[in-house]
Amino acid sequence: MPQPHLRTVVVLAAGEGKRMKSALPKVLHPLLGRTLLGHVLTAAAPLAADRTVVVVGHGAEEVRVHLTEIAPDATPVLQAQQLGTGHAVRIALEAVPEAAGTVVVINGDVPLLRAETVAALVAAHEGEGAAATVLAAEVPDPTGLDRIVRDAAGRLEQIVEERDATPAQRALREINAGIYAFDAVRLRDALGKLSTDNDQGEEYLTDVFGLLVSAGEPVGVHVAADHVETLGCNDRVELAGLRRLLRDRVNEAWMRTGVSILDPETTWIDVTATVERDAVIDQNTQLRGTTAVGAQAVVGPDVTLIDTVVGAAATVLRSHAVGAEVGAGASVGPYAYLRPAARLAEKSKVGTFVEVKNSEVGPGAKVPHLSYVGDATIGAKANIGAATIFVNYDGVNKHRTVVGEAAFIGCDTSLIAPVEVGAGAYVAAGSAISQDVPPGALGVTRAPQRSIEGWVARKRAGTVSAAAAERALAEGASAGGPVAREGEAIHGDAETVGRPSAAGDTATE
Ligand code: UD1
Ligand code: MG
Repeated sequence: MPQPHLRTVVVLAAGEGKRMKSALPKVLHPLLGRTLLGHVLTAAAPLAADRTVVVVGHGAEEVRVHLTEIAPDATPVLQAQQLGTGHAVRIALEAVPEAAGTVVVINGDVPLLRAETVAALVAAHEGEGAAATVLAAEVPDPTGLDRIVRDAAGRLEQIVEERDATPAQRALREINAGIYAFDAVRLRDALGKLSTDNDQGEEYLTDVFGLLVSAGEPVGVHVAADHVETLGCNDRVELAGLRRLLRDRVNEAWMRTGVSILDPETTWIDVTATVERDAVIDQNTQLRGTTAVGAQAVVGPDVTLIDTVVGAAATVLRSHAVGAEVGAGASVGPYAYLRPAARLAEKSKVGTFVEVKNSEVGPGAKVPHLSYVGDATIGAKANIGAATIFVNYDGVNKHRTVVGEAAFIGCDTSLIAPVEVGAGAYVAAGSAISQDVPPGALGVTRAPQRSIEGWVARKRAGTVSAAAAERALAEGASAGGPVAREGEAIHGDAETVGRPSAAGDTATE
């Protein structure tokens, strides 16, 4: 004989959610970091149930797969036809004959429900030795929800369907939230007596209460402190409403721990993300997934961070990051794109219009402007000039580039991987580097420049450029430098062309 289960949780998630008008089952719709179902299971988790059963039906396969990801211990039970909430619970209990003690039933579409509230419901239920206890809420507008009908002494008499309610019952604003605690034995017994003699021809779980009351069993009502927790979600407009409510709850909680959120209405923090004290979250910012923002970091405005870690006192401005790490005191953006495994060490900088993927940017290293850094290791204090491209892909394979400590890469350089630039080496601006540059050397591949005199006057006669050139020449201006006639090559001295100041002039800080 298996041990009896003292607590069993049943989540009802077989409904289609017709009004969502979605290919996705309703309970799989996401809400700030978890699916609706994920939120409900999280609220039930502290009950430490011996078994959690999830009744699946519409989109059963997808819901099952999701459960293996978020709650592998939960047992999905198929309700092939949605014959009502009572039917769903009956099927769930058939799958757990060991269920004794308390059975907690939760509608799958109440994602704002808090663990504390479920725990209080169960404590009240178990404390009073009730046969059944329903979570009720006083709501401003009860339309569409079933009403709690009490007798003169305030005891629950029945739960009435809105469509069956008398005008007086309709005026009641105390509703059934769809969350209950039952005594397993008496629940099983009552479920066996449910009829389908109603409008929808369904077995209503709510009828269990009327049956228990008639049988003289003690039933209880536990009123939720905040009705918002009990809000269900039937369509996408309601889902967006829940999202705003959850956003406010999450933001408020972070502000109370010492986080500055400058514009809470445009700051969306997933329930799974974390923010440390004295961080500042500026407007229009999303912190998603497992994102963790360190103390005194400044994030935003206009930032989306997904599964990204931001170190203490780092700044991230108008940027998008996925699966990245930003070290303490590092600076990102504006307009940076950090892709998976972009790892920015402390005090490094990834600036404007820079994309970084699967690369380490060393401590104090800088990639300030207009660059692509892919599959690279950049040493401490290296400086990567504007418009440097780490050419990592040969069309078939990806290769790595290593830039040594305090190396200096001039602007508009291609580093063609696999390649290594040694510590303290320089690369002249405009180079295409495909061979290793030894430590302390200058790598340069620039073609010598030639200037073809009089070309504009001949080829672009009548343009503003030609006129400007003519005036300048008349004034005796000269740009200096080597000059060639058309078709004539100039052979520069590499030492001159590639002089460090040539790189330095065009590299940027
Ligand atoms: C239900 C309650 C109502 C309560 C409201 C709160 C009943 C009869 N009514 O109404 O008293 O005020 O919730 O939101 O219980 N489900 C199944 N199998 C089924 C039918 C439903 O798994 O055969 C699931 C749904 O997926 C959903 C939950 O049960 O998660 C509730 O079903 P829903 O159709 O939304 O019930 P409501 O009409 O909202
Ligand atoms: Mg509903």
